[in-house]
Amino acid sequence: MKTIKLAENVYWVGAVDWLTRDFHGYSTLRGTTYNAYLIMGEKITLIDTVKKSYKNDLLHHIRQIVDPEKIDYIVVNHVEMDHSGCLPEMMEIIKPEKVFCSKMGHKALLKHFHQPRWPYHIVAPGEEIDLGGKTVSFLETRMLHWPDSMFTYLKEDQILFSSDAFGQHLATSERFDDEVNQDVLMHETAKYYANILTLYSPLVKKLLAKVEEMRLPIRMIAPDHGIVWRNNPAKVLEAYSRWCVHESTGNAIIIYDTMWHSTEMMAKSVASGLADEGIHYKLINLQVNHRSDVMTDVLDAGAIILGCPTLNNGMLPRMAGFLMYMRGLRPTNKIGAAFGSYGWSGEAVKLMNQAMLEMKLTICHKGLRVQYVPEHTHLKECVDLGRLVGRKLKDVQAGKEVQSVIE
Ligand code: FEO
Repeated sequence: MKTIKLAENVYWVGAVDWLTRDFHGYSTLRGTTYNAYLIMGEKITLIDTVKKSYKNDLLHHIRQIVDPEKIDYIVVNHVEMDHSGCLPEMMEIIKPEKVFCSKMGHKALLKHFHQPRWPYHIVAPGEEIDLGGKTVSFLETRMLHWPDSMFTYLKEDQILFSSDAFGQHLATSERFDDEVNQDVLMHETAKYYANILTLYSPLVKKLLAKVEEMRLPIRMIAPDHGIVWRNNPAKVLEAYSRWCVHESTGNAIIIYDTMWHSTEMMAKSVASGLADEGIHYKLINLQVNHRSDVMTDVLDAGAIILGCPTLNNGMLPRMAGFLMYMRGLRPTNKIGAAFGSYGWSGEAVKLMNQAMLEMKLTICHKGLRVQYVPEHTHLKECVDLGRLVGRKLKDVQAGKEVQSVIE
């Protein structure tokens, strides 16, 4: 098998995971990769390791280049187990002179592996290490997305090893951006941002500003998941600059669940109202759409319209679970509205409004409830709701302020 070369004496030595379909609740239908990199300076340096069960792939790829025992340094950009799971075994094999990590990385490594005697070297932000022919420096990226997270920058080759940032859960035989389908690549990059980084968007914004201020030349971005951006790193930087401010496309999404199709009838009428206003929309039934795919649509939607009937004085469990997931990721800059059918108590709309208020969505309608099965006049009200959301969306796109009708 041929080695995967990023630059002279810089190699990809990670593992491709074609199997995983669930990454702590995120559906990874295209699998993923755990990227690790080898820099062959006078001091041979391994950047990150892989998930424990993929240790042999890592060793196999390293052995194509060098005997693992000859590695001098290990850099731990991120302690989460998909990148450090096999670290204890690699420490036994390599017996490195130094393990580079951030201050928080040191704490996290101790709490994960309980090895106070490992040769830690806590790096200061910006610290440079001469590897002999290659120079690396470190950029603290605390809370992107763990407290320990950091990037490593390889000066001579202008490669940014960016840990989880700029990654995708995407298993492919190819390793570089110019070798894969661009639509699939950008979809998986957006899905990754939506489900992992949305909550940390203010920090992403600061980081992008800092990188620009540092005038760091970046020829390549090498994340810990998916492909390496060797041809067009600017493409992912530009996408992140839009996503981190939750920029809206002006589209609406109707996210709903339904019991006996009454709420679904309402959803279709709301959609019809959006269409009347010329708004692009998507109808998303939670019964057939995974929450992590729905979050990908939330990322750049301008309006979130929620539909759910009442069950046992609450929402249907799929809606309740989705709202808990979405609330954790805190998307901003969106208009909201809610609707749903009910039998006798009818709390679901109020609960959806509460959830949207907590997420600081601008609620532009007090909510629409219909008892049992909607008739023509009810569906007309749903069309009106869709039209109202459509008009408010256009106001937002035109830069006008839209007030919430519920405080
Ligand atoms: Fe890919 Fe935060 O681990």
